[in-house]
Amino acid sequence: MPTKVIALANQKGGVGKTTTAVNLAACVAAVGRRVLLFDLDPQANATSGLGLEKVEGASAYRPLLGEGGLLEKIQNTAFERLEIIPSEVDLCGLDIELARSENHLQRVAMALRPVVESQRFDVIFVDCPPALGILTLNALAAADGVLVPLQCEYYALEGISMLNRIMGQLHDNGVNPRLELFGVAMTMYDSRTNLSQQVVSEVREHFGERVFETMIPRSTRLAEAPSFGKPIIHYDKYSSGAAAYELLAQEVLARLDRKTEAPAQVPVSEAPV
Ligand SMILES: Nc1ncnc2c1ncn2[C@@H]1O[C@H](COP(=O)(O)OP(=O)(O)OP(=O)(O)O)[C@@H](O)[C@H]1O
Ligand SMILES: [Mg+2]
Repeated sequence: MPTKVIALANQKGGVGKTTTAVNLAACVAAVGRRVLLFDLDPQANATSGLGLEKVEGASAYRPLLGEGGLLEKIQNTAFERLEIIPSEVDLCGLDIELARSENHLQRVAMALRPVVESQRFDVIFVDCPPALGILTLNALAAADGVLVPLQCEYYALEGISMLNRIMGQLHDNGVNPRLELFGVAMTMYDSRTNLSQQVVSEVREHFGERVFETMIPRSTRLAEAPSFGKPIIHYDKYSSGAAAYELLAQEVLARLDRKTEAPAQVPVSEAPV
């Protein structure tokens, strides 16, 4: 099966991109798939969330500038079948450096090609920073699909039309003809509030079946886990957050497996919003 690249993107900050990237990656690895988590955010939250120190020179910075290969940047984690390309602050300056270079939107795609071709992984999750800057555009240009985490709050959809438009452009102008909206994951859901339920129904009206059935509950255990450097299934296996990410992983795998059999039917440019 070819390696699938899924970017977690939403230009809004703090919506659960990293929490979803880390926990989904861990749950997918736990059920037997080989997973790479590519931390493309200078904040390096996914890196510390998996218990790795931020080490100078360990990130994708140099390979993305064409110096050395990305394969050499892959590191083991403490978790079986889960590997990582860590981030550190030097990725901060990369936007500016890339803006000046040739093929500046294809740098992640080019660097990932040998990793994809090595078939070492079943799936690569890319954790994006909270902006539609060059790093995120690069992730979108390299991805087979985009997973958009949306926080259950007012204005959840704010800015999503922009992301959608950019995805449509990258798709239509040939930068990435494979790109599609892989799914929308609702995060920080609180079943006790009408607000969460209203937001979910509004989002479902826009995105229909693209929205995953599983909603990630608001849970302090999920917020605590990164400070122990562990995904939730290894921090508190029997918590509601662990159960939710395990279910989300099942949905993600079902979609990935379905896509491998039959190509996607909904191009991004036709997705609603
Ligand atoms: N389901 C949840 N329940 C409780 N807290 C959560 C949940 N998901 C995320 N959080 C917390 O909310 C904050 C933001 O989450 P996270 O870092 O995953 O978002 P992000 O979209 O990656 O942020 P950024 O845009 O800064 O990269 C973090 O402190 C995280 O621990
Ligand atoms: Mg993040």
